[in-house]
Amino acid sequence: MKNFEVEFSSDRNIRIEQGQSLLEASLAAGIPHFHVCGGNARCSTCRVLILAGKEQLSTRNEKEIHESADAAVKSGYEILENLEQLNRDYFTKNFDQRINLGISIHTGTVVAGEIRIGNKKQLLVMGYPVNVAARLQNATKELNNNFIISSEALEIPDKLLSDYPSSVIHLRGIAEPVNVHLLGRSYENGHT
Ligand code: FES
Repeated sequence: MKNFEVEFSSDRNIRIEQGQSLLEASLAAGIPHFHVCGGNARCSTCRVLILAGKEQLSTRNEKEIHESADAAVKSGYEILENLEQLNRDYFTKNFDQRINLGISIHTGTVVAGEIRIGNKKQLLVMGYPVNVAARLQNATKELNNNFIISSEALEIPDKLLSDYPSSVIHLRGIAEPVNVHLLGRSYENGHT
């Protein structure tokens, strides 16, 4: 079996066996590591930032993929809730106006990195899934639903999300129709 040496920044180097998770190895070595759900891909508290050697990581397992979709959905709802509060406490109150927002979630392999423009750093994400996500975001208007997720992003059927209505849409410049779940609310009923 293969062994790897992993350096925990600001801590020490430990040996990890092939197939062992970073969480299991760090705990076995006595390195404090939050793990509220016990490493079951439910809470994100064990998340680590890989500074180098990403190519040595195994591909994400089903649980981890599911966790990413859950985290993205949670973030989307938080954004909409915060915007609702801002609308209520500021825009509606002071200007009798609201700001609307449409959110879409999709998945796929992308190229991501930071670029420097002048002295500002910006995160740049490129690739076909980004185009699909942007068109899905646009489609929130056509579907009159402010939060949608592609079935592909769910990958593993989630009991909770499968209760939401779904729709098949055709996106400009994208050959295959995309199946989406509608997680949000109508633009017209004044949620956003
Ligand atoms: S401990 Fe890792 S996701 Fe919960």
